[in-house]
Amino acid sequence: MKEKEKSTLKTLALCKSHQIWQMHIFPLLISSLLVSLFLLFLSYSSCSSCSSSSSSSSSSLTLSLSAAAHSDPCSGKYLYIYDLPDKFNAGILRDCLAMFPWVDMCPYVANMGLGPHINETGSVLTETGWHITNQWVLEVIFHNRIRQYECLTDNSSQADVFFVPYYVGLDTGRKLWRQNISLQERDSLLVEVMQLLKSRPEWLAKGGRDHFILSGRATWDLRREDDGGNQWGGKLLTLPEVKNMTVLLIESCPWENDNEFAIPYPTNFHPSNESQVVTWQAKVRSTNRPWLFSFAGARRPGQAGSIRDQLFDQCLKSTRCKLLDCVSAGSNCDIPVTTMSLFQSSSFCLQPPGDTPTRRSAFDSMLAGCIPVFFTPHSAYTQYKWYLPNNYSEYSVYIPDNEVREGRVSIEEVLLKYSEEEIGNMKEKVISMIPTLIYKDPNYKLDSVRDAFDVAVDGVLRRVKSIIGN
Ligand SMILES: *[C@@H]1O[C@H](CO)[C@@H](O)[C@H](O)[C@H]1NC(C)=O
Ligand SMILES: *[C@@H]1O[C@H](CO)[C@@H](O)[C@H](O)[C@H]1NC(C)=O
Ligand SMILES: *[C@@H]1O[C@H](CO)[C@@H](O)[C@H](O)[C@H]1NC(C)=O
Ligand SMILES: *[C@@H]1O[C@H](CO)[C@@H](O)[C@H](O)[C@H]1NC(C)=O
Ligand SMILES: *[C@@H]1O[C@H](CO)[C@@H](O)[C@H](O)[C@H]1NC(C)=O
Ligand SMILES: *[C@@H]1O[C@H](CO)[C@@H](O)[C@H](O)[C@H]1NC(C)=O
Repeated sequence: MKEKEKSTLKTLALCKSHQIWQMHIFPLLISSLLVSLFLLFLSYSSCSSCSSSSSSSSSSLTLSLSAAAHSDPCSGKYLYIYDLPDKFNAGILRDCLAMFPWVDMCPYVANMGLGPHINETGSVLTETGWHITNQWVLEVIFHNRIRQYECLTDNSSQADVFFVPYYVGLDTGRKLWRQNISLQERDSLLVEVMQLLKSRPEWLAKGGRDHFILSGRATWDLRREDDGGNQWGGKLLTLPEVKNMTVLLIESCPWENDNEFAIPYPTNFHPSNESQVVTWQAKVRSTNRPWLFSFAGARRPGQAGSIRDQLFDQCLKSTRCKLLDCVSAGSNCDIPVTTMSLFQSSSFCLQPPGDTPTRRSAFDSMLAGCIPVFFTPHSAYTQYKWYLPNNYSEYSVYIPDNEVREGRVSIEEVLLKYSEEEIGNMKEKVISMIPTLIYKDPNYKLDSVRDAFDVAVDGVLRRVKSIIGN
């Protein structure tokens, strides 16, 4: 089965450009359906074998638990952060004015990457923990957050995993729009950091297979094949060294590269203690939701295959839908209070693809307790597997995009079929997921909340164990 699955995926392995992802949704759906049916079968058969042996193993379980209590709680979880020269991280942030041609990124990379603190929370947000966080700064937040990880070590021979704090997404991103930079120059820091790593004993010990890196940009921006022509993106994901590493990104390639793992986009909420999280969950549980569904976004006139026009038209026609057109003047889509106010007054939030299948807005809407409606599995289901329930019906609605494109489905009718109880259950599921979808304030060593960072590190530890053994 594994081989068959692999070969199916290989034939789909075409993660090269922005345009082609849509072609592969349908075959992937079928193959993933087959895979999940098979997994269902597997889990049933293994469950029966494990319950039959459970009584005989219970005494040895007690023994090993008490032995574990005396051992090091960080055993198997030690993490080493490379101390890289400044130019690979903080130095890139000093280039914040020129980072993107259309926005001054300096306020957003400040404050550990959280951005400006929101002082006017009004009645929409809770009083504490809110910032104007830019969607491209996850590398900064993550790097600061990892410094609060409870099992850091300076002793690299004790480490189980190694983090490479090079801000590859910000570095590549800032060079994408500079006309006078050659493709070689675009990747110069990347190539340099890999040379540096490969000379280190920490790398040589396991060929880098216990190393990981993070990108705050999507996979499509980082998989350039070569240096010919005028191609898009950097080449992080095509370097042979990096194929040995684990790569965390806000959007992974769903068909290829089993070393890519998607982790949540940053939202605006960065609580510093558990009670801020609980207070927020209580708030979104109790808000009045007059709108059945809503959409915040823009049409995509130039983008072939985009369903945004249809979503606009369906929303405008429905008295149960609220539209926030981010192109119209004064829409204030960039102001968190505007979008969070919309999402917390809607039961369902439409999350179509944008430039790529995933969207930061999906995380903003779930944070507001709004049930996401996805139109391709690659917006979430094939991406955030460490974070989202396997059974997507528990927390979301899936409407295939071709049905929308061909005018064969009324979104309002689909959503009206959900009973109040079903909506309540899905909303509760979404609200229960909030802690692991947010990044806590890296200024604080944290209490009991397990956030998106914690889930990511656990995922990396599990993956590294599975590829190199103990
Ligand atoms: C909130 O106040 C702080 C301190 O005065 C300031 O630095 C920050 O920029 C303000 N936030 C916004 C969004 O204006
Ligand atoms: C580093 O860790 C190794 C393996 O756990 C241990 O043998 C060694 O003594 C440690 N070195 C220092 C300086 O603590
Ligand atoms: C590219 O142009 C920018 C501004 O136009 C300039 O600051 C920079 O030095 C140039 N870089 C190279 C490599 O020529
Ligand atoms: C990748 O890992 C393999 C297996 O350990 C190793 O042989 C190879 O040298 C590594 N590649 C690099 C570039 O270090
Ligand atoms: C959590 O943070 C809030 C706001 O900063 C503060 O008022 C509260 O006392 C804190 N609670 C705990 C349990 O530390
Ligand atoms: C998935 O979740 C839905 C909604 O909770 C439920 O009706 C359905 O039975 C679940 N499917 C499976 C296979 O567990």
